[in-house]
Amino acid sequence: MRHLCQPLGWWRAAGLLVLLLAVIPTPPLKRKVESIAVAESAQLAAQNDSDSHAAEQAVAGVEYVGSRKCRACHLREYKSWQESQHAKTVELLAPGARRSAKQLVGIDPDHDYRADPFCLPCHTVGYGQAGGFRDAATTPELAGVGCEACHGAGSAYGADAVMGLKNREHSFAEVIGQGLIYPVPEPVCSRCHGSASPFNRDVDPKYTLNYSRETLAAATHEHPALRHDHGSLPPGVFFQGPQR
Ligand code: HEC
Ligand code: HEC
Ligand code: HEC
Ligand code: HEC
Repeated sequence: MRHLCQPLGWWRAAGLLVLLLAVIPTPPLKRKVESIAVAESAQLAAQNDSDSHAAEQAVAGVEYVGSRKCRACHLREYKSWQESQHAKTVELLAPGARRSAKQLVGIDPDHDYRADPFCLPCHTVGYGQAGGFRDAATTPELAGVGCEACHGAGSAYGADAVMGLKNREHSFAEVIGQGLIYPVPEPVCSRCHGSASPFNRDVDPKYTLNYSRETLAAATHEHPALRHDHGSLPPGVFFQGPQR
């Protein structure tokens, strides 16, 4: 996986490969494409089960550990995420924050929504789930759209023996099997960036989620190259983003 050293180039290369596989009509390749497509739609369907938040609870018994736990080994991602809007989404629920946006969608700008069970699932990590955000006093490390809102609850894959320093060359299959969401497919984003949000594209087209390599790079965090070889992604799991 050395080509992950240039994630953007990798995406383009992956897109090109998929395109090539799709246009070359030799039977073995075609069969491969079909089986990938089936596996992919199963994966997406599972992740699209937004009501049960299935994507975040894929492995039984896993719990949220908080973004600080990831910081120890992923300092660059952590620091850039901390500067991003996703890290500060609880502040939007405070009285007076983004007054005109709230008025636009008919939300009372003077009300304090920081304990509101309707708002919190999209503005924190794992609200309403075992081990998820409860309130700012007891679970401050789960405030905001933290690492695990996109990558899944980390108690199993984040363990030292699985992803950590004792196992730097873990396979993608191993950590994904322990609940890591990687790469992060569009349904993970659209669980929040969708019609269930008061701020959706029917209210104003500016709230349309543009899931593209550019958005992923700009909206999430810095993407330093992976340094170790993690093998190939398991069947049915592959880089998304636009294929061009
Ligand atoms: C289904 C998920 C979801 C729910 C529920 C939700 N939000 Fe959000 N909220 C979002 C997303 C996603 C955005 C970012 C939209 C964008 O900028 O494209 C957002 C943005 C906002 C913004 C900033 C809007 C702007 O234009 O500056 C405020 C303020 C906000 N939410 C408050 C709330 C409040 C208050 C509630 C509860 C009454 C709530 N949200 C419920 C997902 C949600
Ligand atoms: C809003 C969603 C989102 C959040 C929040 C998020 N990530 Fe990511 N992460 C991504 C995406 C997208 C990628 C690029 C790969 C892909 O397509 O999924 C990625 C990739 C990574 C990678 C692989 C190397 C790299 O940087 O590309 C690491 C490590 C990582 N994230 C760690 C973290 C950590 C640690 C946090 C919290 C501090 C975090 N992520 C928060 C979406 C997110
Ligand atoms: C748990 C809910 C949640 C998830 C998952 C999530 N987001 Fe967000 N996102 C938000 C909220 C809430 C905001 C509002 C931040 C603000 O306005 O300050 C936001 C803001 C953004 C913005 C900035 C919007 C603007 O107007 O500048 C972009 C871009 C974005 N998200 C893209 C993504 C992408 C891409 C993914 C998936 C890789 C993702 N988000 C996953 C909740 C989420
Ligand atoms: C004890 C160290 C450690 C902790 C804690 C840790 N990671 Fe990692 N993580 C690693 C290592 C090592 C890699 C492989 C890095 C490389 O190849 O450059 C990795 C890789 C990743 C990747 C890329 C996919 C992969 O497996 O190569 C993602 C995404 C990721 N980590 C997310 C997280 C998140 C989210 C957390 C917090 C819940 C976290 N990590 C906690 C050590 C850790």
